[in-house]
Amino acid sequence: MINPLRGMKDLMFEDSQRFVHIITTAITVAKRYGYSYIETPILEETALFRRSVGDSSDIVSKEMYQFEDKGGNDVCMRPEGTAGVVRAFVSGKLDRQPAKQKFYYYGPMFRYERPQKGRLREFHQFGCESFGEASVYEDFTIITMVGQIFKALGIGFELKINSLGCPECMPPYKQNLVSFLTDISEDLCADCNRRIETNPIRVLDCKNEQCQSLLAQSPKLIDELCEACDTDFKKLTSLLDDAGIAYEVDTNLVRGLDYYNKTAFEFVSNEIGSQSAIAGGGRYDKLVEYLDGKPTPAVGFAIGAERIMELVQMPGREREGYYMGAMVPEAVEKIIMLANRKRTSDKVTVEYSSKGFKSHMKGVDKAHARYAVLIGEDELANNTVWIKDMESKEEKTVAYTV
Ligand code: HAM
Repeated sequence: MINPLRGMKDLMFEDSQRFVHIITTAITVAKRYGYSYIETPILEETALFRRSVGDSSDIVSKEMYQFEDKGGNDVCMRPEGTAGVVRAFVSGKLDRQPAKQKFYYYGPMFRYERPQKGRLREFHQFGCESFGEASVYEDFTIITMVGQIFKALGIGFELKINSLGCPECMPPYKQNLVSFLTDISEDLCADCNRRIETNPIRVLDCKNEQCQSLLAQSPKLIDELCEACDTDFKKLTSLLDDAGIAYEVDTNLVRGLDYYNKTAFEFVSNEIGSQSAIAGGGRYDKLVEYLDGKPTPAVGFAIGAERIMELVQMPGREREGYYMGAMVPEAVEKIIMLANRKRTSDKVTVEYSSKGFKSHMKGVDKAHARYAVLIGEDELANNTVWIKDMESKEEKTVAYTV
């Protein structure tokens, strides 16, 4: 027997219904905010992720499904959605048009991580990317949109925000941080020591307890932001205050992807164990330029569908459509014709074998149908059907022609 690969899952029944509910709810909200659908390929040139997510990130250095295709090209299954959408924005020459663009997407992402609860190798994201808007109002709007999606799904969350500065204030901060980290390097873990060289900001993200206690004393970028970044961050917090959206400023929130500047945020749930991030995002004003487009500010987010699957409150399912069955073999084909005609407008579950009344009524419940439609001996003789409305319990016999 061949099973799915480790860290990959089939979705069916209750799970696939939950998945569809998450995606359709998110789409409904994203459309209200003016987003339109974009579909980009799952396979891209590896260089795209190296240049955007960053060579030194865990995603690129350890977790990519990367291989040479039959034509000798170095390709990769997308580990996230933003890079592909930015690539499409640039390849489609949208960076040369004055119009602002807002895209939503959903689909599978691939990261070769160690699988555990809430951490898969193939998982699904719903994401939005907004291009052309530099105002911090857009950061606020994006955050409220994620909040609205979770609210519509009945999911509680905590919001963490931080500012990652800009090319003016980040480099001097990085230098301060590196000299702080170098001084305490003997007491930091091996991972942190490696990162001091490759990506010092990521040290702040270390989960090791000893490292965390030492890092409490580290310089904080939030105290060293340039005037423009500081003004925007203060504006963002005051907008969130005004909107009554609770948040925590988390100075260690650095995100695992290198393309962010200014606003970075994560939505976390304390109901799902250690993999608690249910959405993440932020501003990435340099990425379009970095992928050879014209300078275009941008901000976005992605929600992890599998992480919220167990949290969503599913709406009560109402009885829907018809169940049709025959109680004598000669009526089967009539039932099939009737079902075919009705399917042009309604959901119909049809039973091909003739069965007794009780057995059909079990089928009606299993199909969760609103109406039971049966043809027995009398109905066949009189060219009628028996119909029961399963909600009002009203029954009647009506004439029909196929
Ligand atoms: P990310 O934080 O890497 O950001 O992923 C977003 C969400 O995807 C996470 O919060 C989590 O819910 C889910 N996720 C990530 N890895 C896994 C996994 N291995 N298994 C299950 N779920 C996972 C991004 O990907 C950015 N592209 C978000 C973004 C869009 N930033 C700007 N625009």
